[in-house]
Amino acid sequence: ALERTFSIIKPDATRRNLTGKVTAMLEDAGLRIVASKRIHMTKEQAEGFYGVHRERPFFNDLVGFMISGPVVVQVLEGENAVAKNREVMGATNPANADEGTIRKTLAESIEANTVHGSDSLENAKIEIDYFFSPAEIVG
Ligand code: CMP
Repeated sequence: ALERTFSIIKPDATRRNLTGKVTAMLEDAGLRIVASKRIHMTKEQAEGFYGVHRERPFFNDLVGFMISGPVVVQVLEGENAVAKNREVMGATNPANADEGTIRKTLAESIEANTVHGSDSLENAKIEIDYFFSPAEIVG
């Protein structure tokens, strides 16, 4: 089915000037960028976004990393977009990611792992709504 999913190009990628390269890899996988904006998240925004991880030992580091520089938040559209995006991203830990994936090719570490992608269609909707108004998404 035609789906939308949510993606973040993380601070390690914007710092290394990889916004275009990451976007090209998403597009090459058949995903369309139907919304995109570069933002510098506030601490409150990052804490809210990663709220499900609040009790995890890496939560504070993760929030600190996500506000360490600009990010690019995007809405991706395509057939089975949620699964397709997860496939092109590769495993959370770049050491475990398949060859040719974004994280295997570009990520620095499990924390500085270049991209975030929604893990389900349900969470995709929640995450898209967290950063975008309907008028900002142009299919
Ligand atoms: P992301 O898909 O954005 O969702 C949660 C993030 O936590 C994950 O990518 C990683 O960047 C980060 N993270 C840092 N340490 C860990 C860890 N030990 N296990 C899982 N995620 C981690």
